[in-house]
Amino acid sequence: MSEGWTVAIVTCSDKGAKGERPDTSGEVIRDYVTGRGMAVRGHRVVPDERDQIEAALVYYCDVERVDLVLTTGGTGLGPRDVTPEATLTVVERLVPGIPERMRAATAAVTPTAILSRSVAGIRGQTLIVNLPGNPKGVQECLEAVGDVLPHALGVLS
Ligand code: MTE
Repeated sequence: MSEGWTVAIVTCSDKGAKGERPDTSGEVIRDYVTGRGMAVRGHRVVPDERDQIEAALVYYCDVERVDLVLTTGGTGLGPRDVTPEATLTVVERLVPGIPERMRAATAAVTPTAILSRSVAGIRGQTLIVNLPGNPKGVQECLEAVGDVLPHALGVLS
């Protein structure tokens, strides 16, 4: 990734929102992006509720106007995993190649990677990418697509 892009992090976790689980995955994202010269403009921990996830995404896209929103968690098959649905509600265009690469590249080492229903899409000039909730999964997925994100953000801006 290159210098100067702005990022918001949205951690989707019932336990995290109640303060019952440390936001390790959010910190993995923060370390990854700041280590590549990007600036974190916001970081929210929200419960696995569609309306709250959608509100956070819309705020970071439309008010803060960050270049990139990275979510973590809520992409699996559990009944309360609704991050992809919330993301699909707010994006205008999909970027399917990003989650396709994340699943394909990481499933070789972690077969359960295919269970993440993560999506990526564009709202305005912001790219939103869902990452799984597992900190190791976050790191693997960021490494799988990190090389193409600067180009994607450059085309959007
Ligand atoms: N992807 C990678 N690269 N590494 C992982 O460890 N965990 C998987 C998957 N994606 C994982 C991963 C598991 S076990 C699940 S259930 C799904 O992400 C969804 O996780 P989530 O609901 O916490 O988002």
